[in-house]
Amino acid sequence: MSGVNEIRSTFLDYFRKNGHEVVSSSPLVPRNDPTLMFTNAGMVQFKNVFTGLEKRPYSTAATAQKCVRAGGKHNDLDNVGYTARHHTFFEMLGNFSFGDYFKENAIELAWNLITKEFGIDAKRLLVTVYHTDDEAFGLWKKIAGLTDDRIIRIATSDNFWAMGDTGPCGPCSEIFYDHGDHIWGGPPGSPEEDGDRFIEIWNLVFMQYEQVTKEERVDLPRPSIDTGMGLERVAALLQGKHDNYDIDLFRALISASEDATGIKADGERRASHRVIADHLRSSAFLIADGVLPSNEGRGYVLRRIMRRAMRHAELLGAREPLMWKLLPTLVQQMGRAYPELVRAEALISETLRLEENRFRKTLERGLSLLSDATTTLGKGDMLDGETAFKLYDTYGFPLDLTQDALRAREIGVDISGFTDAMERQKAEARSHWAGSGDKATETIWFELKDKFGATEFLGYDTETAEGVVQAIVRDGKAVEAAAAGEHVQIVVNQTPFYGESGGQMGDTGLISTDYSKLQVADTQKKGEGVFVHSAVVTEGTLKQGDAVQLAVDHQRRSRLRSNHSATHLLHEALREVLGSHVAQKGSLVAPERLRFDVSHPKPMSAEELQVVEDMANAIILQNAPVTTRLMSVDDAIAEGAMALFGEKYGDEVRVVSMGTGIEGQKTGKPYSIELCGGTHVHATGDIGLVRILGESAVGAGVRRVEAVTGDAARTYLAEQDERIKALAGALKVQPADVVARVESLVDERRKLEKELADAKRRLAMGGGRQGGSAEDVKEIAGLKFLGKALQGIDAKDLKSLADEGKASIGSGVVTLIGVSEDGKASAVVAVTDDLVGRFSAVDLVRVASAALGGKGGGGRPDMAQAGGPDGAKAGEALDAVAAALGA
Ligand code: ALA
Repeated sequence: MSGVNEIRSTFLDYFRKNGHEVVSSSPLVPRNDPTLMFTNAGMVQFKNVFTGLEKRPYSTAATAQKCVRAGGKHNDLDNVGYTARHHTFFEMLGNFSFGDYFKENAIELAWNLITKEFGIDAKRLLVTVYHTDDEAFGLWKKIAGLTDDRIIRIATSDNFWAMGDTGPCGPCSEIFYDHGDHIWGGPPGSPEEDGDRFIEIWNLVFMQYEQVTKEERVDLPRPSIDTGMGLERVAALLQGKHDNYDIDLFRALISASEDATGIKADGERRASHRVIADHLRSSAFLIADGVLPSNEGRGYVLRRIMRRAMRHAELLGAREPLMWKLLPTLVQQMGRAYPELVRAEALISETLRLEENRFRKTLERGLSLLSDATTTLGKGDMLDGETAFKLYDTYGFPLDLTQDALRAREIGVDISGFTDAMERQKAEARSHWAGSGDKATETIWFELKDKFGATEFLGYDTETAEGVVQAIVRDGKAVEAAAAGEHVQIVVNQTPFYGESGGQMGDTGLISTDYSKLQVADTQKKGEGVFVHSAVVTEGTLKQGDAVQLAVDHQRRSRLRSNHSATHLLHEALREVLGSHVAQKGSLVAPERLRFDVSHPKPMSAEELQVVEDMANAIILQNAPVTTRLMSVDDAIAEGAMALFGEKYGDEVRVVSMGTGIEGQKTGKPYSIELCGGTHVHATGDIGLVRILGESAVGAGVRRVEAVTGDAARTYLAEQDERIKALAGALKVQPADVVARVESLVDERRKLEKELADAKRRLAMGGGRQGGSAEDVKEIAGLKFLGKALQGIDAKDLKSLADEGKASIGSGVVTLIGVSEDGKASAVVAVTDDLVGRFSAVDLVRVASAALGGKGGGGRPDMAQAGGPDGAKAGEALDAVAAALGA
């Protein structure tokens, strides 16, 4: 029969024909279950559909679900490579009924598929039922025609399937295949059942109950069906094999590692080839689903898997990274069914290669330490815990790798000694932070870190997830529960909420259970990796240990993503336009705008800003994928990544790359590469648009650029547009003519002002006649004296009026007092040339000024000017000058 790919599609097509919705596999990191490390069964994605919490537009479904069983409750890691059917990664084929059909149809569908579509010999099949399930017993008889001896009643939990301590559950019925008496083993329930002769191929679960707590079990809204068939097992059977590692898919992977290493697939290194083939699958699929190697949580499980495979690569004599070379074979085998593998191929390849390179640096030294430490040990002995810890701590050997390395020699590891050594190291680390300065007040976060480990951040891949409440903190103290109205800080085991760092603000959103609701106003990272959600309880009571739904405010997060990615683009554009001296000095990524400070000695011109903005928008228009990789700081810097200001980096960093610049078209280097732990858009096009609002100074040599993106940029531009339209309306021109119209209005206004000033002047000097009216001219001591107070005339106009006055009287003295709108006075005295020897304009203007309450004044003997606060005394000032002439 056919290969794995055909078997998978035969299964899905069969259920599609029978009215089932074919649903894609859900990711390996469960979105809807806080207690599961990895998706480990087909029903995981439907958990809430079974319990009635979630509705879907179909009531029957079929899937091929990727599953990982490594770490957590189901951990097959230790056995992989040494047995015929253990895997860390496998595919589970399943059909589901959500209150639609029940036992009868489920049995009928299963029986017809395996005996008719797959053509498995019915005589080789037998089944089990839960011991009290007479109904299932009768149905197998009726539908499959099985005799009583081939329907085995099982009383143990083997035939009562439960997802975990809580969740949907029910009795189940398993279908077994008899591989023949040439293989040792007995039927289920017999003393020889652990033998390899009778192999379970399909588990039909009659989901009837929900385990709510350990003690309480309730009926599901409607009886349902969940089934699970291991694809690798059924493929082995259909391909006439007994060992899963002999199916086409594994043979392809193993022959790739055989070719790459020159070591025979089925020789004494058989287990190593199998470990590598299996671990390549789990590593590649985990990386494709957003898990990257780290020292905590899921990332650490991945690292353990990868390093275990890498030690086996070493056993195969590989001296260069090997795993990544096998990846194309995996993609070729499975990429069609799982396109995420194709999409993430570059990321997977690079992550594998980097991890292997890094581990290789210490692998040989660690292995030689291990061999030195065990030379005197033999079968049944134990390696001491200290050495195992040293291998872990200094050489990056996960405990299970050390165990695996000693397995062939049947040497164990002193686990409690290992744990003691680990505890001692933690205690020492604790003594460093306890009570040191500011940190003393934050001790609680370090205590929580110590107790629960760092919070696992899921927010690169999802904005909603479930988590378990590890701690509730009120006023700096841990409390058991929080009631409506209380302001508290919540710590959960895993969260999609981003904790403020690298300039990006923390997420806000909702935390809820069936009985409580909390509004999260901010999220911060404390105590080295504890995510702290500051929230107010708006409904009900939240308790420690509650499983909660966490939902990030989607719109706000989208804006944060856009603004963060745009900051990277502006950073690179600024460097290209202004020069490589431009370094980031700080940044704020807020939902409504971004602010970015860079070192640059002078203001940026409008043209420079325009070019920067154009460049960033050109990369946005490329709609280029934004890729994230994990690498060592040194490797990242060597690739040209820009490091963020003020950020602490561990030995591994996320490297975010986007776009292709002009240079990159030749070199293949991305437009922007930065070390960054923030959240970003998937493709640059998601930013939409970036608009620089302006730049300003924030300190010596530091300039601040502010910008908006996406909707905010559109709103900003729309408002500008509105303003132009309103302006055009008021000016009664087309928007395009606004500037010309305003320019001509400004010109016109200038002209009118001038005309108005002239008119005022003329009016002031006497009804438009030049030089003032005759009655303003007096004879004093034989001299002509023209004295006049003028309302609303500016000081600057007085001199020219005084000149006109001189011309009209021919010989004499002119005194003009201008009184401004606000009552202040300016005085000008002019003396005609023939009298300059007798009178000084300066002396005379001082007389006027004194009368006006001012002091001083100045100018030339023929023309002087002064001022005074008291315009109401203009008449007295004129009299005083007249009197001075007469004296
Ligand atoms: N959920 C069932 C299992 O995993 C089908 O075996």
